Amino acid sequence: MSEPILPQRFAETIRNLRQEHVLRFWPHLGRDQRAQLLCDLEAVPFAELPGLVDAYVLKRPEAVRHGDLAPAEVLSPSGPESATRNAAAWQCGVEAIRAGRVCAFTVAGGQGTRLGFDGPKGAYPISAVRNATLFQLFAESLRGVGRRWGHTPVWYIMTSPTNHADTERFFRAHGMFGLEPNAVRFFQQGQMPAFMPDGRIALADRHRLALSPDGHGGSLRALAASGALRDMQQRGIDIISYFQVDNPLVQTIDPLFVGFHIQRASEISSKAVRKASDTEKVGNFCMADGRLCVIEYSDMPESIARERNTDGSRRFDAGSIAIHLLNRDFVERLVAPGSNVRMPWHRADKRSPILVGDGDAARIESSDIVKLEMFIFDAIPLARNAMVTYVDRAEEFSPVKNAGGVDSPATTRRDLVRRAARWLDAAGCSVPRKPDGEPAATIEISPAFALDAADLRERLPQCPNIREGDRVVLE
Ligand code: UD1
Repeated sequence: MSEPILPQRFAETIRNLRQEHVLRFWPHLGRDQRAQLLCDLEAVPFAELPGLVDAYVLKRPEAVRHGDLAPAEVLSPSGPESATRNAAAWQCGVEAIRAGRVCAFTVAGGQGTRLGFDGPKGAYPISAVRNATLFQLFAESLRGVGRRWGHTPVWYIMTSPTNHADTERFFRAHGMFGLEPNAVRFFQQGQMPAFMPDGRIALADRHRLALSPDGHGGSLRALAASGALRDMQQRGIDIISYFQVDNPLVQTIDPLFVGFHIQRASEISSKAVRKASDTEKVGNFCMADGRLCVIEYSDMPESIARERNTDGSRRFDAGSIAIHLLNRDFVERLVAPGSNVRMPWHRADKRSPILVGDGDAARIESSDIVKLEMFIFDAIPLARNAMVTYVDRAEEFSPVKNAGGVDSPATTRRDLVRRAARWLDAAGCSVPRKPDGEPAATIEISPAFALDAADLRERLPQCPNIREGDRVVLE
């Protein structure tokens, strides 16, 4: 390997941007370390840097104010005339799925840190009886879609530099969970440097920038950079079904949702649930400047989150469950070079170990840094047309985020079992109950076996005999 040369373009740009400190150890670095630093520098969006530092690091974005926001108009798939409307939408969605126009897309860049799990979060075992992992359940859901509609959707999975190799290895070790290897595509998300409060890029070491994933909003750029958008185009895919890695109740591909999305000529569509409390940790669907948007719980002033309508109901009641459909051509438009629409960055102030000091005095010390991330839902106001629809939380949303308490493995497993029991009830089967109404058996339905209550009713040759305390799997 030849000695890595510092390209002139880096040297000049870095000087012009007053970021020379990132090169202050260059003369003392070995060959591999220089190569590593050059590789890190490739991740820095130098052209955007001055504007970015000025807008997000040196200044703070303005807080949301009263009067800026109005509640979003949310479609409700129940209510008068819904049956006919839903049947037409369902049929439209099924046709798109059968024609191979819809793919699945999981953002799986996160680690299971909050869960206390060491590894890609998708490798977390979650199902109630088999202990199937999140990735396995999604794969089974896609196989279920293939069984039911005659086309198994292609699955794109975004990883991060931290978990990319582990994620691919995990899938290979499990035989791709029964999916065609060619129909599962992994790609890595981009990274962003952290900054010191004075706007200088933070170093993690003498030869390393402090880089971290650029947020799930970065997935749109990564879809383009990785060639995934081109791959979709070649396969005739024009709708992307986006979901997070943490919610095993997700319908990976939902015909009704796809149908509404197509019929309403929406470029990006989203699912919402009625919030469990005023300050539930979910994004809030709102209207701002006449456009649909999501305001993250952490950015929503509590006084606004607690506002009431005259009838006492919650004014901002539509919570985001981070499930979206995006048109491929919408994503292409957003990420096109020279595109005049830009997703904003979100600032997170953290304390983190970084390199401080110079020369022999340089040392790693816990310091204030600013991290920047993009959020996928910031694409919503950029669409020509966007819509949001309510879904039933008990059917579609129970994320596993924390080791205990709300949104933990215990609550997610409970919700999976409750849903399985409800589907069996709807199929006319009897499920033993405890005095408080909870199922008295642990029941698991593989999504490969049935995707929803109606699917289960059709698939069950006869009701299983379930007794109290049983552990039952339908697969
Ligand atoms: C998220 C949403 C919130 C929504 C809630 C629903 C944000 C900022 N908040 O909260 O509006 O109501 O889910 O459950 O999105 N990820 C990457 N790369 C990254 C960052 C995240 O792939 O750089 C992935 C994670 O693997 C995960 C998902 O994005 O699948 C969500 O990330 P997380 O940071 O856990 O969001 P939440 O705070 O849980």
